[in-house]
Amino acid sequence: MRYLVFILSIFSINLFALSQFQSSQVCKKCHPVIYKEHYSSQHRKASIYNDDIHKSIWDKHPLKKKELYKCAKCHTPNDKKLITALKDGKKAIPLDNKAQQEGVSCVSCHNIKSIKHGAKSNTNIITTDKKVLYSARESEKNQKDKKYKTKTSFFGFVSEKSGSPFHDIDFSNELYYNGDVCMGCHSHKENSKKFKVCEMDIKDGTNNEQENCITCHMPKVEGSFSTITKSKTHRYHGFTGSIHKPKMLSKYVDIEYKKDVEGFDITVVNHANHPLFLHPLRLAELRVYIIRDKKRIDLNPVKFARVIGKDTKPSPPWLATEVIKDTQIKAKESRVLHFHNCLKTNDELVVTLGYFINKKNQKDFIHLKQEIFDVR
Ligand code: HEC
Ligand code: HEC
Ligand code: HEC
Ligand code: HEC
Ligand code: HEC
Repeated sequence: MRYLVFILSIFSINLFALSQFQSSQVCKKCHPVIYKEHYSSQHRKASIYNDDIHKSIWDKHPLKKKELYKCAKCHTPNDKKLITALKDGKKAIPLDNKAQQEGVSCVSCHNIKSIKHGAKSNTNIITTDKKVLYSARESEKNQKDKKYKTKTSFFGFVSEKSGSPFHDIDFSNELYYNGDVCMGCHSHKENSKKFKVCEMDIKDGTNNEQENCITCHMPKVEGSFSTITKSKTHRYHGFTGSIHKPKMLSKYVDIEYKKDVEGFDITVVNHANHPLFLHPLRLAELRVYIIRDKKRIDLNPVKFARVIGKDTKPSPPWLATEVIKDTQIKAKESRVLHFHNCLKTNDELVVTLGYFINKKNQKDFIHLKQEIFDVR
């Protein structure tokens, strides 16, 4: 009897698998570690209900008056009801439901079949196969449709299992190996003035299988990826970023120092294939001070930002028509900053690269990287 119940329950899971709105909660049972990480990520918190900054911009946005939450395309793509209303040209305002609470959910990514390029923004093409999920596994890259299989031994016991009892897996989709799966939402966004408000501007050919969005933002961390098939490590699903776990990204930025007769140079080396401090809301600063005879001498900070606006003045993104100022450190750039301050032997030089999440509300200065140099 117990076996029968077990078999039936597997069956019923299978029948309903992926046939409708797929909550991340169904994945939790077999992928608890990844579920927990994802729960703490900005992806899960991408709706107006869990991201105050997103809500504050939405509240001022002209689309709110028109009751068209077009942000759903990238911020809450699993809210099928809202997305369908938008497609039909009907009013669509987010309501506090499960899909909103899940933001960019598990299937928002794992169902992406391909990416369609567009001028305003790219579009994720979602698979119509209700049971398949895409993923990457180098050793099984030729498996287009891995199904659940069990091998039964002579006495009727299941001796070997492979695949997932809940879903099929397609390991052959290149997007999941070179990071391009991120580019449906992260590539660019144009406003109604045909101006690119955001642009990833990745350096050509730098999203490759060796290093890409996935290898930097989903580093391998300890813990099994599932409770059924076991592994030592899995890809971190908290997604390191400017809000969540920025320290984990500090190794991709170097700060170098060189003394000369007129002062000294600080070089910031960006190993990312996109500009540093991408979002137009961010304001970054390089802060430098000298410790000399136990006294602290602060030098003028250097600011980095991409300021957008109209008629040479900063404006909200929906009114912007031009880049007013751009001191962002570009993809793979080494930015040399010269300081006309003569250093003395035994000085200590403390250099910090950090940023404010919202340049309009300079509350917490977040440190991305700090280096201390002894002057000889
Ligand atoms: C084409 C996809 C796309 C659309 C459409 C979109 N966004 Fe975003 N948005 C993103 C991505 C990707 C990020 C993360 C980028 C980053 O952190 O640099 C983001 C980040 C943001 C942030 C910064 C969040 C933070 O916590 O700092 C705000 C604010 C924001 N979006 C507002 C909006 C609003 C308002 C709309 C709708 C009017 C909208 N977005 C529509 C893709 C999109
Ligand atoms: C923002 C996109 C995104 C979201 C959201 C996301 N994943 Fe993933 N996931 C990926 C990518 C990309 C990979 C492939 C990484 C690789 O192996 O190269 C991956 C890998 C995996 C793996 C493979 C094993 C491993 O080593 O980590 C599992 C299992 C998984 N995801 C489950 C989930 C579950 C469950 C959720 C929701 C709780 C989820 N994912 C949410 C993008 C995403
Ligand atoms: C009943 C258990 C179960 C449920 C529920 C389940 N999975 Fe899985 N999943 C597995 C198992 C087991 C594997 C490993 C299969 C294998 O490697 O043979 C797997 C593999 C995966 C992989 C590929 C892993 C890799 O190595 O790249 C992804 C991605 C994934 N699951 C995502 C999800 C998502 C998203 C959900 C929710 C919609 C989900 N799973 C629900 C059991 C489950
Ligand atoms: C369905 C759309 C979508 C996809 C696909 C997607 N993202 Fe995002 N991502 C977003 C949105 C929206 C945000 C901003 C959430 C917020 O802060 O409100 C975001 C935020 C981020 C952040 C910033 C997190 C932080 O703490 O600051 C990182 C890093 C990121 N995504 C990386 C990735 C990577 C890597 C991939 C591909 C594996 C990916 N994303 C795929 C929509 C998406
Ligand atoms: C070599 C490592 C590296 C690669 C490759 C990389 N990033 Fe980043 N990324 C970083 C670092 C370092 C930061 C932290 C500085 C910052 O906030 O811009 C960052 C920040 C981000 C942020 C947060 C920006 C903000 O202002 O909120 C997003 C979103 C992001 N990356 C997405 C991506 C996507 C999508 C890809 C693939 C096209 C990618 N990254 C490739 C290293 C990398």
